[in-house]
Amino acid sequence: MRHRRVIVTHYGGLDALRVVEEECPEPKNGEVRVRVLAAGVSLPDIMAREGVHPETPPVPFTPGWDLVGVVDQLSAGISGIESGQIVAAMPIHGAYAEFICLPQRELIPVPSGLDAAEAVSLVLNYITAYQMMHRSAKAKPGQRALIHGAAGGVGTALLQLGHLAGLEMYGTCSSRGAQAVADLGGIPIDYQNQDFVKEIGRLTSEGVDVVFDPIGGTHLWHSRKALRPGGRVVGYGLISSIRGEGLASGRPGRRQRFRGTAIFGLYIAGGWLLPGRKRLVPYSIQTLKRLKPAWFRQDLIALFDLLQQQKIKPLIAQRFPLVEARQAHELLGKGGVIGKIVLVR
Ligand SMILES: NC(=O)c1ccc[n+]([C@@H]2O[C@H](COP(=O)([O-])OP(=O)(O)OC[C@H]3O[C@@H](n4cnc5c(N)ncnc54)[C@H](OP(=O)(O)O)[C@@H]3O)[C@@H](O)[C@H]2O)c1
Repeated sequence: MRHRRVIVTHYGGLDALRVVEEECPEPKNGEVRVRVLAAGVSLPDIMAREGVHPETPPVPFTPGWDLVGVVDQLSAGISGIESGQIVAAMPIHGAYAEFICLPQRELIPVPSGLDAAEAVSLVLNYITAYQMMHRSAKAKPGQRALIHGAAGGVGTALLQLGHLAGLEMYGTCSSRGAQAVADLGGIPIDYQNQDFVKEIGRLTSEGVDVVFDPIGGTHLWHSRKALRPGGRVVGYGLISSIRGEGLASGRPGRRQRFRGTAIFGLYIAGGWLLPGRKRLVPYSIQTLKRLKPAWFRQDLIALFDLLQQQKIKPLIAQRFPLVEARQAHELLGKGGVIGKIVLVR
């Protein structure tokens, strides 16, 4: 049997993505073959294509952080899982494919009746949002939160979960995302035309309890200025490394996978040394998953439950067939996307 998958042939722009057809992979010992129904498209995929994400594999590789699929074939001796069962996984790369083989321990059952594109949105975006909110920030009802990139994949997840947690929310976005942010209960702040530190000062007088910052670099330090004493910035991304002058495909050969992480380390130290008890804490879904795999499983099951109860509703920006992965990356890279882009079978 043959299948198709997308590969990144070299670190760079859209031309680095190619669809190949080959023999279907066979599950090795302890592995399960999954027929992919939906694979999430996210900024970390674009960063890996550009070669600037810390988890970037050597080329050629198949991108795709997260997937939902059907169990298709079991290797010998596997029990506790059946052919035809719907499962979710976060392999970090490899999900842009018709079939993928994964160790059984990586698979989490998906309750029946859920839409595959909505279910896959929970894996990377909502677990990130949920763990940052409840495990890193330990947010409590009535607290104030500033969510940067609030109209994006993780941002809209933070808004929905923040609403359930009873937070007062402010969200930076471009003018294209303002309505979506307001609809999800956030007060929009236009990051292209307003100074968010001044706006937070004007709207709250003393600052917010927590800032969720995916922008990185010097932006983290500005975020710290929006905190009230005792507050914390949860830093979780490096949009600044691929936006504007940071776009890596314009500078081939200059892959700086750990530069942003080093700057972050300096800011964490500064947060401890300077007065005001304003801390910067890093969040990484893959690090926490490696350290605490049980939390990952437990949190995803809690999120599937919220989806089944219709307490959360992932915003799907657009669905593309697998072979149009390049168009999906182009759309996400251009910006202005509200919610999550998904590759569907
Ligand atoms: N640490 C982790 O475990 C983890 C997990 C998942 C994701 N991430 C990171 O999270 C980030 C977001 O990923 P995503 O998939 O949600 O991306 P996304 O859907 O593209 O969302 C990013 C959003 O940020 C907005 N934005 C861009 N520059 C901004 C600025 N200067 N100020 C405020 N908003 C700005 C964009 O708005 P416009 O397009 O309208 O300009 C867009 O809505 C990425 O850096 C990713 O690497 C980290």
